[in-house]
Amino acid sequence: MHVVTLDSNTDFDGWRKAARALAMNDVKPAEVSWRVKGAAADLFDDEAETTLPEVPEGAFSVPASFMELAESAILHSDPNRFTLLYRLLWRLRTNHHLMEITTDPDVAQANALARAVRRDVHKMHAFVRFREVGREREARYVAWFEPEHHIVARAAPFFARRFADMPWSILAPELCAHWDGSRVSFTPGASKADAPSEDRLEELWLRYYASIFNPARLKVKAMEKEMPRKYWQNLPEAKLIQPLIAAASRRTTEMIAEPGTSPHKPQKRVEESEMTRKPTTHAHAAETSRDVESTDLETLHEEAAGCRACPLWKDATQTVFGEGPAHAPLMLVGEQPGDKEDLTGHPFVGPAGQILDRALAEAGIDRAKVYVTNAVKHFKFVPRGKIRLHQKPNTPEIKACRQWYERELATVRPALVVALGATAAQSVFGRITPVNKSRGHVVDLPDGPKAMVTVHPSYLLRLPDADAKAREYERFVEDLKIAAAAIKRAAHAA
Ligand code: URA
Repeated sequence: MHVVTLDSNTDFDGWRKAARALAMNDVKPAEVSWRVKGAAADLFDDEAETTLPEVPEGAFSVPASFMELAESAILHSDPNRFTLLYRLLWRLRTNHHLMEITTDPDVAQANALARAVRRDVHKMHAFVRFREVGREREARYVAWFEPEHHIVARAAPFFARRFADMPWSILAPELCAHWDGSRVSFTPGASKADAPSEDRLEELWLRYYASIFNPARLKVKAMEKEMPRKYWQNLPEAKLIQPLIAAASRRTTEMIAEPGTSPHKPQKRVEESEMTRKPTTHAHAAETSRDVESTDLETLHEEAAGCRACPLWKDATQTVFGEGPAHAPLMLVGEQPGDKEDLTGHPFVGPAGQILDRALAEAGIDRAKVYVTNAVKHFKFVPRGKIRLHQKPNTPEIKACRQWYERELATVRPALVVALGATAAQSVFGRITPVNKSRGHVVDLPDGPKAMVTVHPSYLLRLPDADAKAREYERFVEDLKIAAAAIKRAAHAA
């Protein structure tokens, strides 16, 4: 038996070097025992560390896709991951195309490990909450987080980009990450008691969270899936969840009873932005929805969470994917998620979403029956101090993200798509489409459903003049009524 001891749980280079030497000497997977320095098993281990055999002459190449997968899968907490990956490497010597056989149990398991790691990184990006320690020039921001896998080092660069101008530390049981404004460093794990339990900004954040919580769209199960209970203990807003859920039905009734036609008071615009990422190998979005594969929305959502099709994923908190019934007759397409959407992971939950909800209700459309998505699925912004200012997505970003819209379209198969604003229209019609000239006209899309364009609800928020705002809001509701009638006609015709 060969015993290999890796320097740490994330020692990919050590694993790669040992695995290469062993595989080239034809050492079978069952003859290798993988350990991690300092891990509990070592205490009982009487087998001596093996000196790695010499690497014989000759090339041994494995597909890049395997190395990429292994780099993620190795961060999983499964103690058998090193063995699994070595078994795959060993098998790749005689079957170079093994990784393409996704039904192979080893390939499937390695993919599942890598997916779980990506999900954990994504959860860390979304659920780390910094608390302020010290004031003004002395201020630092400290968070406590308990990942499921060995992902702190993988997840840390995101926070350095996102919070470049504030010194922060993320404390975790196994490894802590720190940012001093110029470089990320790591120290050994800490305990929860080392992190502050609240700060002076907490109250502000709680009020913000309560204000974006939309009771009309409460789905407890979906919410728990997105924000699993195990993260609640470290989320300040978690203490609001139960009371907000309890009050949801009363708040919904109050919202419906609110007078509907007057537009919102002028309010500070919360800018939206975003981007995309791309999952697999297509480098460019197709120009039409022809031949686009339909799959289930959950799988699409998962794939989109790892999209890297354009650079917007780097600074966004998460992909904000579409939401709504799997076969909704109406699909609404917005521009991109805004600040609140980026933080919560749901489309149209901020100020624009509130206007949209009211206008839909007035047009006789139940939002719960609509599939709501965006042309671009990551928040695009420029930081201005602590505020993130919306940036309009550009054409390459819209094109890079279009694959997701196409796949949503192929899966949901709505009778009508309504593009909200110019960016959405560019994605839906595949070309720049003037909103004012075309609004309210239902047209046929090639090989697909019918489509219509209207203004984006945030356009209404930006109008400075109350009369213009009221007038434009009415026009927006009228456009949505045209959409409601078109869906009814399609339902009768079906
Ligand atoms: N604006 C959009 O276009 N989409 C959202 O999800 C929110 C604001």
